[in-house]
Amino acid sequence: MRFHIMTLFPDMVTNGLSESITGRAIESGLIEVSATDIRDFADNKYRHVDDYTYGGGAGMLMQPGPVVDCYESICDGIKERGGKDKPRVLYMTPAGTPFTQSMAEEFAKEEDLVILCGHYEGIDERALELIVTDNVSIGDFVLTGGELPAMMIVDAVSRLIPGVLGCDESAVYESFYDGLLEYPQYTRPKEYRGMEVPEVLLSGHHANIEKWRHEQALLRTRERRPDLYEAYMKDHTKQ
Ligand code: ADE
Repeated sequence: MRFHIMTLFPDMVTNGLSESITGRAIESGLIEVSATDIRDFADNKYRHVDDYTYGGGAGMLMQPGPVVDCYESICDGIKERGGKDKPRVLYMTPAGTPFTQSMAEEFAKEEDLVILCGHYEGIDERALELIVTDNVSIGDFVLTGGELPAMMIVDAVSRLIPGVLGCDESAVYESFYDGLLEYPQYTRPKEYRGMEVPEVLLSGHHANIEKWRHEQALLRTRERRPDLYEAYMKDHTKQ
């Protein structure tokens, strides 16, 4: 799978993803991450890509020209490699749809994923209208730019690609498996600062362990994410 990031800070994205599991996935060729500098498409020698907002208001806005030109250049590259004419383009914005695991699963089906990172006060609406297929937020807070959100998307999607995680199973048995939060887990030592590992986990009785884990997942979800708990109960108590 190939990720194409449109950004004013290409090094931030490529450096951040070059470590750990995404770094290994890049090295082994399971994913490709290319970050294109939108400034390379500026129409002036100062490489400025922003300007004042029509109608007034604080801050600068990214102009449509460099953004659309950058996108078209990425599309040319995708087409040359046999990809879609119109790839999926995610615009990272706090005004988007909140990112979820099921969206990560959807995005993981794509061969090419273009991710547009905003900066300043945002991007001229005409550029967005022309190229964006999905507006995506990573939460109800405002960051200084879309680079960290883009890295999060690449991370969440990459780990769903077969071979990226050491063991395929671990992509399934984690938080949000079946809509519940993950149950608590323990490793050695058996006792730490007076705190014991729950007895059932030492019993070797697999059915009891599964039952305990499911109960713990339910308890934890009810306490921390009542919204998920309610949805789960609705789903699992239907006649
Ligand atoms: N850019 C700035 N804040 C953001 C957020 N919360 N989600 C996605 N992109 C953003």
